[in-house]
Amino acid sequence: MMKILVTGASGNVGSFVVKELLKLGEKVVAADPHSDKAKELFGNEVEAVTFDFTDRNTFKDALKDVDRVFLMRPPHLGKPEDLYPFIDAMKEHNIKLVSFLSLMGVENNTIPPHHKIEKYIEKLSIPYAHIRPGFFMQNLSGIHSVEIKEKNEIFVPAGKSKTSFIDAADIGLATAILLNNPEKYKNTAHTITGPEALDYYQVAEILSEVTGRKITYKKPGYLKYRSYYIKNRGLDKNYVNVTVALYFMTRMGTAKEVTNGFYNLTGKKPRTFKEFAQENLRNFM
Ligand SMILES: NC(=O)c1ccc[n+]([C@@H]2O[C@H](COP(=O)([O-])OP(=O)(O)OC[C@H]3O[C@@H](n4cnc5c(N)ncnc54)[C@H](OP(=O)(O)O)[C@@H]3O)[C@@H](O)[C@H]2O)c1
Repeated sequence: MMKILVTGASGNVGSFVVKELLKLGEKVVAADPHSDKAKELFGNEVEAVTFDFTDRNTFKDALKDVDRVFLMRPPHLGKPEDLYPFIDAMKEHNIKLVSFLSLMGVENNTIPPHHKIEKYIEKLSIPYAHIRPGFFMQNLSGIHSVEIKEKNEIFVPAGKSKTSFIDAADIGLATAILLNNPEKYKNTAHTITGPEALDYYQVAEILSEVTGRKITYKKPGYLKYRSYYIKNRGLDKNYVNVTVALYFMTRMGTAKEVTNGFYNLTGKKPRTFKEFAQENLRNFM
């Protein structure tokens, strides 16, 4: 039985892709720069390999007996070209399906790195099933939870815009279904979102209700946000710059579309932000 390689296996989406693939009875190779992490997360249920997009020497072992791949772009790799050597290696290896974790709206937007990565996969004629999710609910429980926990504030430069947030667990399920059916989903793209578009005032209201604390949306400008995340939070500059571009797009209205993509793939309703906040309450306390 051939295996499925999951890159970013310890990440927000990758960890759920692994879980859902195992439920479907697939054999999984969990790939990360530090294979101990995957071992800790999934134990003996998966094979863990050390893998780095920037180190070609790690590709051969990762692709051994693999015919399908979940491909994600680590957030700090800001240049699309960083992923090309591994995409070339997938082509040489005759991969049957690659499901790339892309981004909602990139088919019409050349700025985010995902646009060029999708095009490069298509140019090489590797069978693909692009997954184009909206913003992750995990942004609130992860990167932005620091200000929520310490100051009861949401510090995101999204203005008054709306976002159709989706739970990374739902993305994991939809992606596993694509990889489990490579013939059916060959050369397709799927825009998947949560069930509703919320602005950050509404997000703050839901978090206040669920945590029992008054949480407010601060609505910073781009410059304030950028310097705070780089200087005070010490985050990678490339990463912060990509997020500024994404929030700029969000303010243009590119993150608010609600689609049936998740239901069409899974036959289930996507989780609401309130359900997510209740399930992940510990991350906000
Ligand atoms: N956040 C959103 O709202 C959103 C929405 C749509 C699309 N996206 C896209 O989703 C992607 C991020 O997914 P995620 O949130 O699941 O990622 P994540 O949680 O940030 O995890 C990143 C993963 O990549 C691994 N990694 C780091 N450097 C690597 C390297 N050089 N080679 C191979 N693996 C490496 C990390 O391993 P270690 O932990 O060991 O470093 C980790 O497993 C980005 O491309 C982003 O643009 C995000």
